[in-house]
Amino acid sequence: MTQLALIKKAVSFINKKTKNFKPEIALITGSGLAASVPALTRKVTIPYKDIPGFLRSTVPGHTGNLIFGMYQGRPIVVMQGRFHYYEGHPMKDLAISIRTLKMLGVQKLLVSAAVGSMNMKLKPGSLCVLKDHINFMCNNPLIGNHDPAFGPMFFDLTVAYNKDMRKTALTAAKKIKINAAEGVYLAVTGPNFETPSEIQLFKKWGADVVGMSVVPEVLVARQCGIDVLGLAWVTNMGCGISKTPLSHEETIQETKKIESKFKELLEILFVKL
Ligand code: HPA
Repeated sequence: MTQLALIKKAVSFINKKTKNFKPEIALITGSGLAASVPALTRKVTIPYKDIPGFLRSTVPGHTGNLIFGMYQGRPIVVMQGRFHYYEGHPMKDLAISIRTLKMLGVQKLLVSAAVGSMNMKLKPGSLCVLKDHINFMCNNPLIGNHDPAFGPMFFDLTVAYNKDMRKTALTAAKKIKINAAEGVYLAVTGPNFETPSEIQLFKKWGADVVGMSVVPEVLVARQCGIDVLGLAWVTNMGCGISKTPLSHEETIQETKKIESKFKELLEILFVKL
């Protein structure tokens, strides 16, 4: 079966469950960030495992549900838990969920993630609003996966992260006293954290934060014309800058601390974006 046929099956399954709910804004929650989703009305929750063709989320801290609902008149869908390349999913399968969102009607995508920071102005607890990225995964979900139904094969990434959305996010963050700044995300495959030398190299390359997700989703979304906002929460300084060894437990612990601020931010963004 082609990916398009598989996605059409997923979409018709979802449409039956939601009675053709048409979400405008999608949010993907990163590690430990699922609890920050604002309360939605007319909520319908569909576990990933029930959706034909959907992947399963296997990482602790990533629950696997699609949640549909309204927030103050805006139709929202939340991908509670994401899929990572390091879980062993073939890179092109990472396109399935994003292309499904597109076919459901999504126009704006908010990707959230936990990241390590190489920028001393972005300490743990800070928000990096992504202005660009460097794809150091050395792979791409669009390779061998072209279907004109999802946009052109060759497309421009001068502005991968929507400028208006970035401005709205920075203004909202300031209003609720989150330390936030724009920055560049560098994507690694993981699952290991980086070495100190890698972090120094990435810093020289112009990266501010590093993580193991985001970029595949953004590439797929931009190809099919979805506007993207990247919200990267710093959970630790990068390896070698951090005084303690890095761990996934630390990531989850740190996200607990920003949970309520992130929820406040999303309550503003769901209305203003
Ligand atoms: N590196 C990569 N991914 C991460 C990090 C990190 O330091 N922290 C949270 N996610």
